[in-house]
Amino acid sequence: MDAPANPPPTQAAAAHSATARAAELRQLLHHHAHRYYVLDAPEIPDAEYDTLFAELQALEAQVPALRQADSPTQRVIGQVLDGFAEVRHRVPMLSIRTETDTTAAGAQAFDARVRRELELADDAPPVQYQAELKFDGLAINLRYEAGVLVQAATRGDGETGEDVTQNIRTIGQIPLSLRLPPGTLQPPAVLEVRGEVYMRRDRFEALNERQRAKGEKTFVNPRNAAAGAVRQLDPAIAAQRPLSFFAYGLGEVSDWGQGASGPVPPPPTQAAMLDALAAFGLPVCDDRAVVDGADGLVAFHLRMGERRDSLPFDIDGVVYKVNLLALQQRLGFVTREPRWAVAHKYPAQEQATRLNGIDIQVGRTGKLTPVAKLEPVFVGGTTVSNATLHNVFELRRKGVRVGDAVIVRRAGDVIPEVVGRMPSAAAWREPYVPNFRMPRACPVCGSQVLRERGGMDHRCSGGLFCAAQRKQALLHFAGRRALDIEGLGDKLVDQLVDSGLIRTLPELFTLGVAKLAALDRMADKSAANLVAALDKSRSTTLARFLYALGIRHVGETTAKDLARHFGRLDGLMDASVEQLLAVNDVGPVVAQSIHTFFAQPHNREVVEQLRAAGLHWPESDGLAASADAPLPLAGKTLVLTGTLPTLTRDEAQALIEAAGGKVAGSVSKKTAYVVAGEAAGSKLDKARELGVAVLDEEGLKALLAQDSAG
Ligand code: IVH
Repeated sequence: MDAPANPPPTQAAAAHSATARAAELRQLLHHHAHRYYVLDAPEIPDAEYDTLFAELQALEAQVPALRQADSPTQRVIGQVLDGFAEVRHRVPMLSIRTETDTTAAGAQAFDARVRRELELADDAPPVQYQAELKFDGLAINLRYEAGVLVQAATRGDGETGEDVTQNIRTIGQIPLSLRLPPGTLQPPAVLEVRGEVYMRRDRFEALNERQRAKGEKTFVNPRNAAAGAVRQLDPAIAAQRPLSFFAYGLGEVSDWGQGASGPVPPPPTQAAMLDALAAFGLPVCDDRAVVDGADGLVAFHLRMGERRDSLPFDIDGVVYKVNLLALQQRLGFVTREPRWAVAHKYPAQEQATRLNGIDIQVGRTGKLTPVAKLEPVFVGGTTVSNATLHNVFELRRKGVRVGDAVIVRRAGDVIPEVVGRMPSAAAWREPYVPNFRMPRACPVCGSQVLRERGGMDHRCSGGLFCAAQRKQALLHFAGRRALDIEGLGDKLVDQLVDSGLIRTLPELFTLGVAKLAALDRMADKSAANLVAALDKSRSTTLARFLYALGIRHVGETTAKDLARHFGRLDGLMDASVEQLLAVNDVGPVVAQSIHTFFAQPHNREVVEQLRAAGLHWPESDGLAASADAPLPLAGKTLVLTGTLPTLTRDEAQALIEAAGGKVAGSVSKKTAYVVAGEAAGSKLDKARELGVAVLDEEGLKALLAQDSAG
């Protein structure tokens, strides 16, 4: 109870301080739970809440008299807000026990508990589990009567939630009526489906980008954006927030429908139940697996932990459930938590730390970004000491100042950001911290800093005169998704630009081993490696080259679309705005930006110099000509799963796209092929179930080699 560093207090004093601390913790937790559950406006990161919760749990375990009925450890908190009708859940919406030990021990402890409860002998075979992702959104109960969605409700306090049917109906992924799986003639009389409403990361980033561009309030994280949208009183606003849904469980269920020869038998396992929900047309996540025993759980936790960053949505852990529903029933519940399920966490994606200072970073396009210099903190699996503050307006709106305790978020490949300050920050503040201001001159090159009228961004007007912009342009050019020049990272780019060795992109290819080896701390070996990497990068694709040029508004996808459409660089460089508008997904802003870029003689010169330096790529006649001889995978959607023997995922995707195909994340009836490698997961099962053709790497290569898939 006391930190070991403190001198041992007398027993009476200890008892008193425990009582006082427990009361304080209860009050704090009530407050934060209300902010989180009821107002959707948390003031502290989840991990902070978990720590307070664990402290109170520990105190109550030590001194049971402290465990009061109103302790947050004893009930689920949350009140129904005015504005939505109340819904009494026919089957309470429970929560699950959370295993916060993020190591393998978390999974092992759960398996051991289950085995003990089931009174299994040590040599009894392993228990089978369904392992799922723990989606970071909000729980929803969907009620289907005779196959029709009649009500959607939030969890609320678990007994009573809010009727949010209007808003949920705007989520395209949620079927308004159930599909009838083959062999089923009538839907269940009552089927309550439970699952998570969430917002994908890319949609969340885009939403915040739009909010920032309008100078409006941004959302703290996808979960809050999703929760806010679901509880929007105006369904029209809710409908504009791009939400998604995954089903993971059941509420009240009367039956599983009627088939030709009587009632459809209920699914025997959690896995079969999810399959059944998917067959009814509900979205079910493909990243799940049936595994055996603690080893299987640990492997799943590890595997998904590695994939966590590349998932399109936030997860805060995985969930393990005993697979056999009969066993689930036997295990039953303790108070409000099932004994047959547990959430096993990953390191938190939000943490509190101290803002030590604010620097200005000059980006590739000259944009000045205020960057938070943080007291290093472990968040989302890495140590973060810098985080973006986006722009000065947002910084002011968030009210953060140097010295404040702030919340940092790092999720996926997204750049870490400061999402706000801790409410307690003001109390610690030095009395006279000056308000942050943008400099009038570029901190790197001294050029004038300008802001477009009404715009949110400040920009350095120095262009490629500015060393910062040159460095960023080089880094972008060499990046993994651009020319992929291995070894050309931050430090080397700094050296190359600062030493004056490189002033333009093409000069990169004039570097020889001798020049490079003259740089500080550059060994002959590394110099030779870099020259080899540069050589390798000369052979590329048109899409990568276009992306590498760093044309404003031309991201990876647009670059691919442009390459596919035009086939040749010359055709693209000479295209009119109208011709550019004919390209898939290219609008006026993008078309104008591309046209302006190639209208500048110095940009054309750079392109010519790069070609002269030996950069090359295969060219084709583009879409116009390929109408006669279609690409082998034109219009086809493929899904990749597992590890292929020689191709990386990126390489396989590039080959498929070059052949006119698309790569999707999940298998549906529209999937043309599933390409499966080693350790393929549920996507392979799904393909077999839907009768989708399955290929291995050889099969894919054979397909790519065809003239046309016909
Ligand atoms: S099962 C009785 N499965 O995590 C079991 N929950 O306390 C009920 N969650 O807010 C929950 N992903 O909304 C389950 N695959 C998953 C989940 C999941 C996310 C959420 C759920 C609830 C919390 C569990």
